[in-house]
Amino acid sequence: MTNRVRKAVFPVAGLGTRLLPATKTMPKEMLTIVDRPLIQYAVDEARAAGIEQMIFVTGRGKSTLVDYFDTAFELEATLRDKGKSLDALAPSRAQIGEIVTVRQQQPLGLGHAVWCAREIVGDEPFAVILPDDLMVPGALKPMVEAWEQLGGNLVATEEVPADKTGSYGIITPGGTSGAVTEVRGLVEKPAPNEAPSRLGVIGRYILQPQVFAILDRGETGAGGEIQLTDAMARLIGEQPFHALKVDSVRHDCGDKAGFVIANLALALKHEDIGEKVRDALSRL
Ligand code: UTP
Repeated sequence: MTNRVRKAVFPVAGLGTRLLPATKTMPKEMLTIVDRPLIQYAVDEARAAGIEQMIFVTGRGKSTLVDYFDTAFELEATLRDKGKSLDALAPSRAQIGEIVTVRQQQPLGLGHAVWCAREIVGDEPFAVILPDDLMVPGALKPMVEAWEQLGGNLVATEEVPADKTGSYGIITPGGTSGAVTEVRGLVEKPAPNEAPSRLGVIGRYILQPQVFAILDRGETGAGGEIQLTDAMARLIGEQPFHALKVDSVRHDCGDKAGFVIANLALALKHEDIGEKVRDALSRL
């Protein structure tokens, strides 16, 4: 068993119904923030955190996610013939073996999607990245650094508005030291009057492989789905479990407003187009 986090699971098999009709034929992870798809940001974040193998849990209609990281022979040949640079393509080229895929045949929930990766992850700690939570700057590197001290399981957290607890896994907090809070309990999507705190779990996790044995049972929870939160909750008390408040801005790109705001926020900071966008926004 390694004590490094070498593998990351990217559950990308969801239906993205909140972004219809855009997601009717296009995976939401392929939607563009400024000049690159969401999945590119997630893969770059994993690379920066030292992840060596990215495991995409895909579903029907998601093959463009895999094609995107392949070489584009015709495009590259055409660019070369025209004397144009291939530099813009560099981040989208994966090393052989850097990205592997497994299919989730039915969208039975996030816990089920993670479970689909169990054979590829094997018996070692692993990260989970939800690409639609765009973190600026990337949050996985500081998480890995914190995890190297803490061990066990570690989830990213932020304080969510009191009326939004029903959209998150919510933490029952224990002691806090700086940005780290001990996790005493986890509940998926509690109503505001039943939420144990306002500390919501956001889309970055480092988990121990024992979570797969719990997911094996296929138990359903909130919304009739196999919930990752419920499986993680069973590890509390068995293994160290902490939450880290990360120093990143989170854009929930699975939501229409969050997606537009992410585009604006990153465009305003972009060195080539920032000024143009700022001028246009003030005119609008
Ligand atoms: P969401 O709750 O955002 O669901 O999933 P969704 O289907 O993607 O989007 P909406 O709510 O219909 O608009 C959170 C993450 O879990 C993945 C999604 O791809 C997303 O990264 N997921 C969810 C799966 O891979 N499989 C599932 O069965 C459910």
